[in-house]
Amino acid sequence: MNELSVLAAIEKRRSTKHFRPDPIADTVLNALVDAAAEAPSSYNLQPWRIVIVQSEEKKRALAAAAWNQAQIIEAPVTFVFAASLESWKAQMRQVIDTARAVGAWGTKMVSVVQGVAPGFHKDLGDRLREYTVKDSMIAATHLALAAESLGLASCFMNGWIEDDVKRVIGAENDPNIAIALLLPVGYAAETALHPGRLARKKLFFVDTLENPYRFTPKHLRSPRDKAMGLVHLPRLIDKVRLASRGELPGYNYLTTGFDKHLLDLLDVKPAAFEAAVLAAPDDDAVIRWLEANAKRLADEDKDAFNRRILAIGPTDEKRRQRFRVLLDEIDPTRTEIASFAELIDLAEGRI
Ligand SMILES: Cc1cc2nc3c(=O)[nH]c(=O)nc-3n(C[C@H](O)[C@H](O)[C@H](O)COP(=O)(O)O)c2cc1C
Repeated sequence: MNELSVLAAIEKRRSTKHFRPDPIADTVLNALVDAAAEAPSSYNLQPWRIVIVQSEEKKRALAAAAWNQAQIIEAPVTFVFAASLESWKAQMRQVIDTARAVGAWGTKMVSVVQGVAPGFHKDLGDRLREYTVKDSMIAATHLALAAESLGLASCFMNGWIEDDVKRVIGAENDPNIAIALLLPVGYAAETALHPGRLARKKLFFVDTLENPYRFTPKHLRSPRDKAMGLVHLPRLIDKVRLASRGELPGYNYLTTGFDKHLLDLLDVKPAAFEAAVLAAPDDDAVIRWLEANAKRLADEDKDAFNRRILAIGPTDEKRRQRFRVLLDEIDPTRTEIASFAELIDLAEGRI
């Protein structure tokens, strides 16, 4: 299988409650461990202790510590992300020596870490737990996204009793171990729906909490704008230009959606269209290229295509759900919006 990009894995990841019993291959498990090991941490001190729970007996005990949530029983593996509060004392020397030896940290950085980190940790007091748990959560997020990118699913979990989890992993007598998170990982036996998110403008701000962040509309023409009598063509030309500058991150492009419908209608290969747009100084030159290379279309065919594209809306429950999430995000009062073309125009501030 093709590994998903980070953005695609973020978009696809859902908290999964039911897993198939299929085991995870050792090579895949190694890749997940590597992804967690690569997580950043405060002073690179890597305070996490990550236990891979996979025996049936331990899984049952862990599930019992987590209100018997099914995902722990069903998933082939559950990662317990623990944090060692005092690990900085024993690990700091080696962290510094390694970073210095490979040339990543110069004398200045080494003396900062050596001089500041011990006092910093001592002054943390009760917050030491919070700081080490923070680092472990980042490692868990690395692992969950890596799992998604490799075709696995996961479920972040807070629902467990800490002392019971510690007993399962043999840490019941260690006050320096805190549990950050449980993460069952395996092959999904369900397709969980996106539960929606609050409007970005309520959660993201610029400079201060009084100033909500506003998404800048992408510099794309409306899907309703026409060229050669065809809707979406000006927008597709804009997308090619933006994508070539790396300004369309995470955007479905050329082989899907309206783009694919239009290129299929014109009987033009995506790569050829892309090359033609990038070689053309303006829209007129793109149209001349299409007149020479694309399928000739009667006016009625163009009209039928235009009507079809502009009417496309969500076709199944999953897409309807996603559509509602997107609409809620932009303006929940605009309940008349039914097609993707309208949704795009609303999102980009045209209607
Ligand atoms: C820190 C954390 C703890 C969570 N604990 C549980 C849990 O104990 N059991 C569970 O079924 N889901 C748990 N979830 C999953 C959330 O319910 C889920 O992330 C949320 O509904 C959003 O859905 P999504 O992950 O599919 O986007 C937890 C998620 C996070 C981030």
